[in-house]
Amino acid sequence: MRAEAAVQPRPARPSRTAPLPWLMPGVLGGALAPLASIAFRATQGELGANPIAQALNELGLVALVFLVASLACTPAKTLLGWTWPIRLRRTLGVLAAVYATLHVTTYVALDQGLDLEAIVADVLKRKFIFAGAATFAMLVPLALTSTNAAVRRLGFARWKRLHRLAYAAGATGTLHFIWRVKKDLREPALYALMVSALLLVRIVMQLRTRIARAPLSH
Ligand code: HEM
Repeated sequence: MRAEAAVQPRPARPSRTAPLPWLMPGVLGGALAPLASIAFRATQGELGANPIAQALNELGLVALVFLVASLACTPAKTLLGWTWPIRLRRTLGVLAAVYATLHVTTYVALDQGLDLEAIVADVLKRKFIFAGAATFAMLVPLALTSTNAAVRRLGFARWKRLHRLAYAAGATGTLHFIWRVKKDLREPALYALMVSALLLVRIVMQLRTRIARAPLSH
């Protein structure tokens, strides 16, 4: 009886690599929520005294959240052994670029009234706008080369090198946030801390790989 009990198959534990069919629809559905909320509140006149600035800030913050989330995927695999975030990395990066585009479009069309001269002057005059523009300039090529076809066209090594720009975008995006906020720096400091920690993990991972691959000297 006891021996029989011993050979009973154990209930299967959910595998770390099990397919999670709800994962991508969940993320895409969730990603629409901030946009839907801004659009709804705009139609109801519930975006406060300065609705353009409110929408601008919310769209920018969501872009930064997605950018940081995309940077966290590889460290999550390394540190926690989770593989599912890797499947979301590309989507999260593209979502960051989509929200950044909405943020910049709001600035260009609604805040600046499509006045190109004023926009160029603003980019050159205000360092926080310059940092935002630099971040956007990095996110666009990253999003455009996020397809499998782009990986094939560029070759994996060049593609990987290009996509390291995501960390620079994380740094300049955080700087944009820090320079925009004049008084309470707690929230942007939190993002700066997260981006720095994620970058540190990546650097340590790279060093470990290099050391492991280095030929023995004797
Ligand atoms: C040409 C590019 C960009 C321009 C001109 C721009 C412009 C602006 C402006 C004018 C504001 C402040 C609005 C206000 O003071 O009321 C702002 C806030 C912000 N932007 Fe940008 N931005 C750009 C790109 C980006 C990008 C690429 C990101 C993120 C990836 C980003 C993230 C943010 C964040 C986090 C805030 C502050 C949100 C808050 O205070 O809650 N911006 N941006």
